[in-house]
Amino acid sequence: MPTHKLLLLPGDGIGPEVMAEVKKLIAWMNAHGMGTFETEEGLVGGSCYDAHKVSITDATMAKAHAADAVLFGAVGGPKWDSVPYEVRPEAGLLRLRKDLALYANLRPAVTYPALADASALKRELVEGLDIIILRELTGGVYFGEPKTITDLGNGQKRAVDTQVYDTYEIERIGRVAFELARKRKNKVTSMEKRNVMKTGVLWHEVMTQLHQREFKDVTLEHQLADSGGMQLVKNPKQFDVVVTDNLFGDMLSDIAAMLTGSLGMLPSASLGAPDGKTGKRKALYEPVHGSAPDIAGKGIANPIAMIASFAMCLRYSFNLVKEADDLEKAIANVLDKGIRTGDIMADGARQVGTVEMGDTILAEFKTLSA
Ligand code: IPM
Ligand code: MN
Repeated sequence: MPTHKLLLLPGDGIGPEVMAEVKKLIAWMNAHGMGTFETEEGLVGGSCYDAHKVSITDATMAKAHAADAVLFGAVGGPKWDSVPYEVRPEAGLLRLRKDLALYANLRPAVTYPALADASALKRELVEGLDIIILRELTGGVYFGEPKTITDLGNGQKRAVDTQVYDTYEIERIGRVAFELARKRKNKVTSMEKRNVMKTGVLWHEVMTQLHQREFKDVTLEHQLADSGGMQLVKNPKQFDVVVTDNLFGDMLSDIAAMLTGSLGMLPSASLGAPDGKTGKRKALYEPVHGSAPDIAGKGIANPIAMIASFAMCLRYSFNLVKEADDLEKAIANVLDKGIRTGDIMADGARQVGTVEMGDTILAEFKTLSA
């Protein structure tokens, strides 16, 4: 059986708590011949800053390059509010994304049947929802230069961020969108702001041409990103794959998360280009939620987004499709049984903490794997 090399980066806040639940799954899978996972662990974010004065070290970056996949928890917290911008906790995550060239960020928003009432929207709007926000992850305003604050000397300062996209960056994320759609409901909605942004004009043009050239069998729609956000809460089931830039994708995926009931439910996969020889993609898997410093250390965080991110890892990095299906099914079954963390609590359900939720999912996974 091939060895799967995993780098675990739990990070800050609730990161280590939710990662601990994935470690249990890995240990059980190793013990039961369901894979040979070799794990290493590293520091990232504020916890790395405390130890090394940077948010990720070169040594950890080298391990990330060597790994088959990275599992990432969360970074950040008020403790590091005043550290220099270049070494703030989030910089570690951005370096991982950029240096590993993880340009395609898949954020599936799936409403589990048992949770349709946990959403802020009416049940009929979200019941059966299964969409993917596909976010461009290595370009746009997150990385564009210049990125500066200049003192104008007259009591004023000027801040500049740069939104920049080249044709190839739009084309490669577009290709991922159309290929994903072909395996789903065959529809892509591209979102940008071509009415005010040049990057939006180019985005629209490149998507349209790519569609004409290579993907005519897929339905392509365009929406302005503001109106697209409105449509996401008005009629989310009209979508299948939504493809958008880095910043809009950040915002629209948080919106999509709430359709599923809680930010604690949304996993994500960040993928690079397939290797020319092996076809393998560099990959990082992380929950969409952050470090949640307000509830960190209390044992109440919802580990489902982290566990579902591991399921995505099994599926996309290791082609362990049955195992991924079982793990997702295990999550759904546990929710069906009325077992909930506080963020998705409902009348008549039983409230549990992080560890018990993880244990219950593992137990269900064992039953399904038997
Ligand atoms: C996310 C997060 C990150 C982002 C932060 C932590 C830098 O919000 O993954 O959505 O803005 O991309
Ligand atoms: Mn975000």
